Amino acid sequence: MTPSDVDYQRAVDLLVAGELVAIPTETVYGLGADAANPAAVAKIFAAKGRPADHPLIVHLAGHDAVDHWAEQVPPVAWELMETFWPGPLTLILKKQAWVPDAVTGGQDTVGLRVPGHPVALELLRRFARAKGESDGKPAGIAAPSANRFGRISPTTADHVAEELGERVPLILDGGPCKVGIESTIIDCSRGEPVVLRPGHISPLHLEAVLGRLPEIETAAGAPRVSGSLEAHYAPTTPLRMVAGERLLDFINAQRHRGGKCGVISANQPPQAGMPHAWRLMPADPVGYAHDLYAALRDMDHAGVDLIVVEALPLGADWAAVADRLRRAVAGAGQA
Ligand code: TXA
Ligand code: MG
Repeated sequence: MTPSDVDYQRAVDLLVAGELVAIPTETVYGLGADAANPAAVAKIFAAKGRPADHPLIVHLAGHDAVDHWAEQVPPVAWELMETFWPGPLTLILKKQAWVPDAVTGGQDTVGLRVPGHPVALELLRRFARAKGESDGKPAGIAAPSANRFGRISPTTADHVAEELGERVPLILDGGPCKVGIESTIIDCSRGEPVVLRPGHISPLHLEAVLGRLPEIETAAGAPRVSGSLEAHYAPTTPLRMVAGERLLDFINAQRHRGGKCGVISANQPPQAGMPHAWRLMPADPVGYAHDLYAALRDMDHAGVDLIVVEALPLGADWAAVADRLRRAVAGAGQA
C-alpha cells in the first residue's frame, strides 16, 4: 500500500495549513498535526475527545531533529535511538523551552519517536522539507493513536475511518500495521531510564543496550501517560478474562443462560456447537499483539453480549499484550 505523490502532497499541504492527517505507523495509525502549531494540535484533542492535559508523541524524520525538540539528552538516550530507531520506541526527554504546552500537556518533557514505517517516514521527510523552506527548523508531527479517547487503537485505515470518519480530512493508507500495539515508552528525563508503557521492544531488548533490565513503572500518576489510565483500549462490549482450563465450562454456562459470547483464545480452536464468534489467536506474543486490536474490534461488531478472552501465559514477553488487555477489561462495556 503506497500513497501516490498526489496523496503525499495533499497530506503535506493539510499539515502545513494546520489541519489533521491520519498516518500509518508500524505500531498503530496516528492522528497527526504540525507539532509546532498549537492551534493544529488542539484539533487532535477535539477530534479524539481527549483531555487536553494528556501529552502527545512528536514523530520525527530522523535523529538529527532531536536537538531541536529536546535538551540535556543523556548518552543512554542516544544509544537507544541508535539501536531502535526508526522503530517502536518513544523516548521521554527534557523539552526545549519553545515546545508548545499543547504538545507536552504543560510538562517539562517531550515524547519523541522516529517511526519505522516507510509511509510515515516519507511523509515526515516531505513535511520537514516543506516547513524547513519557510523556517529552516526540523519539523515534527504530533500524533496520538487515531481512535476516540479510551477506545481500541486502529491498525488499518478502515479502522481510522470507523473511529473518526469526517473528523479527519485525509487518511493516508499504509496497509495494516506490522506491530499492532503502541510503542514502548521509556523515560530518559530523570536519570536511570524507566519504562512507562511496555511494547514490542521488550525489557530484554532494552537490557541489551542498558546492561541491565530497566525499571518498569506503569499505571503511576496518570495522566503523564494516557495509556496508563486503567480503562483504555476498550471495546463497547463487556469483556472478561477466563483461565484456559475453565474456558469451555464458562462458555457453556453462558450459553445455557442464553448469553451470546464471543471468544478470543490462543489455544482452544472452535468446536461444534460453540459460539459463532470465535477468534483463534497466534500463540506467540508478537503474533498475538499484531492481531489483538483487530480481534477486539471484530468482536465488538459480532453482536455478542460478552467477549471472553482466554487468560494469557505469564512471562515478560507477554507483558505488553497483558497490559493492553487488562486496561481493555477495565474500560469495556462503557458505550
Ligand atoms: O505507537 C505509538 O506510540 C502511537 C503511534 C501513533 O506513534 N502513538 C500513541 O500515542 O500511542 P498515544 O497518545 O495514544 O500515546 C502516547 C503516550 C501517551 O500515553 C502519553 O501520555 C505519553 O505517550 N507521553 C507523551 N509525551 C509524554 C511525556 N512528556 N511524558 C510522559 N508521557 C508522555
Ligand atoms: Mg492511544
